[in-house]
Amino acid sequence: MWMTLRSDALTCSSTPCYDLDLGCGDGVFSFIHAGGRIDPAFDVFHSVGSAVGINGKRSDMFDHVDEHYEPVITRRPDEVIRTGTDLKPTLLAKACRLDLYQELVQRDLNEPLPFPDESFETVYCNMAYWVRHVDGLLAEMRRVTVSGGRVLLHVKLDAIRDCTLATRAGDLGAEFLDIIGRDRFDSWPTLADRSTWEHRFRHAGLNIEQAIPLATTTHAHLWDVGLRPIAPLLVRMANGLDPVERAGIKSEWVELFHTLAEPLCCRDLDLVAGGGTPVEMQYELRPG
Ligand SMILES: C[S@@+](CC[C@H](N)C(=O)[O-])C[C@H]1O[C@@H](n2cnc3c(N)ncnc32)[C@H](O)[C@@H]1O
Repeated sequence: MWMTLRSDALTCSSTPCYDLDLGCGDGVFSFIHAGGRIDPAFDVFHSVGSAVGINGKRSDMFDHVDEHYEPVITRRPDEVIRTGTDLKPTLLAKACRLDLYQELVQRDLNEPLPFPDESFETVYCNMAYWVRHVDGLLAEMRRVTVSGGRVLLHVKLDAIRDCTLATRAGDLGAEFLDIIGRDRFDSWPTLADRSTWEHRFRHAGLNIEQAIPLATTTHAHLWDVGLRPIAPLLVRMANGLDPVERAGIKSEWVELFHTLAEPLCCRDLDLVAGGGTPVEMQYELRPG
């Protein structure tokens, strides 16, 4: 649902395609946004690691790659992307198998970008709020973007913090909230409100050309509980099935969720009191 909202919002910008994808992850979002398609026999859950690390702490099950990760491409994207970057080598190895990026670069975005000044027409990033030194990152985005080019950002707003069941801790208990939360806010050190983001952009020398809300507190409440707590179990169960049975169940699953999710994929969805407040924005920025 969230990826559809993002892809849909990008089509409203003046440049829905980009040549630098910062924090590209496994590249699947950009691949599908660019018109690529993958055979239904494959999905990103086929080859995942454990959701529990060696120290007993939670870990990212997607931070894993092996020989079973083989996306079968049924349609190539309309355009390739010149460069993708990410912190995690495993995700870059997966992105490489999509044949979408001409170049993949492992980089911590808290560090300067390894690209010359004014080397990209359009820079896209949907994870800037994951980066501690976000002011440095924004200044770097401005530096590597050509004059007259664009920086396209999807940034979460801190209103999303209020879209959890934390205020009901007395009824639900700390363990319940911990299982649902899975420490996700710890990954987002620079979540901020609109005025703080806009101040950051001005400070980095980036002018706002367009600002559109792309998700609301209603989406955030749906996503708060979602399938997160049972995802590792579902994935293990699905991967234990024989491929024919898995494909049959998956096809019914996809059809059901498509019907349920379609009416929710609307940028200003407002189904609960105060439910239309934006929690994620798309900014189209131009170097000043
Ligand atoms: C929510 S994922 C988004 C991935 C991709 N853009 C997408 O839409 O599917 C966030 C990504 O940011 C990457 N990341 C987190 N911190 C980072 C950092 N400091 N430098 C570079 N990448 C980072 C993670 O490895 C992960 O791939």
